[in-house]
Amino acid sequence: KNINLYKFNELDSTNDYLERNHKNYEEFDVICAKNQTHGRARRRNDWISMEGMAIFSFFLKERENWKIEDYLKLPLIAGLATIRGLKGIENLEYKFKWTNDIYLENKKLCGILMEKIDDVYIVGIGINVNNILPGTLKNKAISLTQATNKKYEIDEIVKNIVFEFQILCENLENGLWEDILTEINEINYLKNKEIELKFGNEAVSGVVRDINENGEIEVLVKQDENGKIVIRSFSIGE
Ligand code: BTN
Repeated sequence: KNINLYKFNELDSTNDYLERNHKNYEEFDVICAKNQTHGRARRRNDWISMEGMAIFSFFLKERENWKIEDYLKLPLIAGLATIRGLKGIENLEYKFKWTNDIYLENKKLCGILMEKIDDVYIVGIGINVNNILPGTLKNKAISLTQATNKKYEIDEIVKNIVFEFQILCENLENGLWEDILTEINEINYLKNKEIELKFGNEAVSGVVRDINENGEIEVLVKQDENGKIVIRSFSIGE
């Protein structure tokens, strides 16, 4: 299907814009902004926006034949679609950081924010493309142009990603989740890394294994009482 880009110079947030206006758009129409005044990240953090980034949102409609488990896979699918889309433009060693960030050279290249409103799932993506990160973020974040010294056509990147997202949703619907998961695990940034997960007032640390068939991350955790190592899995919701 043809992908329509609707381009704005400035919005508060492309996600917020779609939350308010999705009824005026079709599934997979893309809202792009050169800049945002109130970009949002996960866990109620701000997303610092600047020109040269790819800043865009689109939505998927609720599907009658999908179960909750299918929707829980969407963040992973959005991450993989982003990596595939980027690879089509510049073939670098992108890594997928569960639940849905993209890393390059151990630094954050892209963040994804998924939100549900009414009967639509909004996917918001911010990628450092032609922008130069401020010094304060230098050790944490990277842009494509900082990695390669080239400039990129943002519209092309955006179209590639939304196209890949559509394909992956079709594949999921056609029972190809196992293939998708294999591809995701090949680029799993957290694999074999020691991490700490915090939820509520519990903190668990351990070494990451793979992402399992439910889209959960599996962590080898040492139990305090006996030092025994157990596998625990954590869902995106947690
Ligand atoms: C994160 O890193 O936690 C997610 C960041 C998501 C940023 C994008 S930019 C386009 C869309 N609009 C927003 O306000 N946020 C997302």
